[in-house]
Amino acid sequence: MKKALVTKFAVLMIFIGVFAMLSTSGIAQLPDKTQTPNAANEGIAKSYTEQVGAGRGDVLTLNSSAFIMARDPFRAVRRGRQLFQRKFVRSQGQGPLAGDGQGDIQTNLAIGAGLADSCAACHGRPRGSAGFGGDVVTRPDSRDAPHLFGLGLKEMLADEITADLRAIRASAIADARRLNRGVTKQLISKGIRYGSITASPNGAVNTSEVDGVNPDLRVRPFFVQGGTISIREFLVGAFNAEMGLQAVDPDLQTAAGGGRIVTAGGMVLDGALDSIEAPPTTGINDDADADGVTNEIPQSIVDFEEFYLLNYFKAGTGAGNSRTRQGLALMNEARCTSCHLPEMKTAERAEPREDLARKLLLLVPLAGMRSQLGLGEVADGAAQQLLVFGEREIQGASSGA
Ligand code: HEC
Ligand code: HEC
Repeated sequence: MKKALVTKFAVLMIFIGVFAMLSTSGIAQLPDKTQTPNAANEGIAKSYTEQVGAGRGDVLTLNSSAFIMARDPFRAVRRGRQLFQRKFVRSQGQGPLAGDGQGDIQTNLAIGAGLADSCAACHGRPRGSAGFGGDVVTRPDSRDAPHLFGLGLKEMLADEITADLRAIRASAIADARRLNRGVTKQLISKGIRYGSITASPNGAVNTSEVDGVNPDLRVRPFFVQGGTISIREFLVGAFNAEMGLQAVDPDLQTAAGGGRIVTAGGMVLDGALDSIEAPPTTGINDDADADGVTNEIPQSIVDFEEFYLLNYFKAGTGAGNSRTRQGLALMNEARCTSCHLPEMKTAERAEPREDLARKLLLLVPLAGMRSQLGLGEVADGAAQQLLVFGEREIQGASSGA
């Protein structure tokens, strides 16, 4: 019970923090004031070493990522955001480009990627956001960096759909065994059809009619072509491929080796069920790119970055008017919305949404921010959005993860 309350408060802090960030002038990339002192006093106050803090630690270790995420989640989000915008330098291990830009570009896309000094160098628009940006991938086609709004929602929706599809598979197998004949089931989750699956009494499944997802039924939400299943794997890969910075992450290493871990953001990665991408180093002494720097991205930095992107808000939809309603009606008529589903929800959790939303909104006036945020008008949408931040935590609390 207590944990749930703390969680709700934490959720609120993130919400207020997000609005606070929006109301201050956004900066695209951030230099580090300890490296680049300047008259305008612009930049990240903490040095990189201070941001690394006491490492992963635990909820009782002061200044560790586990401690800060649990006790002061807004600080964790802000740290992640500043790390996203941080301009990394050579002495911290930035560069070189994968294989120094030489090798088989057809098998290693990283060779054709740009080499940047910050995530925000590419994902920098609108200014100050984890938004979209420049065209960087050079093979097989060129791609712009997409925006990362609502990234955590994307991860959760895909993971929940995967769980649904795999549950349907399990029930098809169970039915086939019980009835001693082949059983075919439709694969449908959150209103999306993924074809069908047929199980045999001996437990084998025929996936030839599966559509829109790999035969393993794992929905891969990241990369345009659907390549990666978790924020954590993606960001570790991005640090390496786009910035030449190799992360140390015992969690991903365990999962890649077939083990089961729960990431700092609460995502279960089970190497026995899915193939998980290994981190680019084997430990804190491994200088994988031979640039003379080791432990370039320590585990706590991966934690903060994952936490930031997990909680990154979804772009809002304005109030709408007769023209936008007309547009939506046209899209419905043309059946665009059979693919572009207007609404997808994450699963209901331990506490009913409405109750939680009401409690959270009741807290807002205490912070004196209700009118400032115009919450009267956006209450419903904001409440929905808030819930997403809290849901995974609550689920974690009830399942003991
Ligand atoms: C050199 C430019 C560049 C840099 C730097 C960069 N990215 Fe990206 N990012 C891209 C491009 C291009 C894509 C689209 C890749 C694709 O779909 O093929 C992308 C995709 C992503 C995605 C997947 C989004 C989705 O919905 O599929 C995430 C998450 C992401 N980047 C996070 C990061 C993080 C975190 C960093 C910093 C560690 C970073 N990126 C640095 C260019 C960049
Ligand atoms: C059969 C499924 C399907 C239907 C029907 C469909 N779309 Fe799409 N649409 C997609 C997919 C998949 C993508 C993403 C393609 C990609 O990124 O490679 C997309 C992308 C888009 C994009 C680009 C979005 C972005 O962020 O880049 C727009 C705009 C769009 N669709 C509008 C429409 C409209 C308008 C209609 C109806 C006239 C429509 N679509 C009908 C599947 C569909």
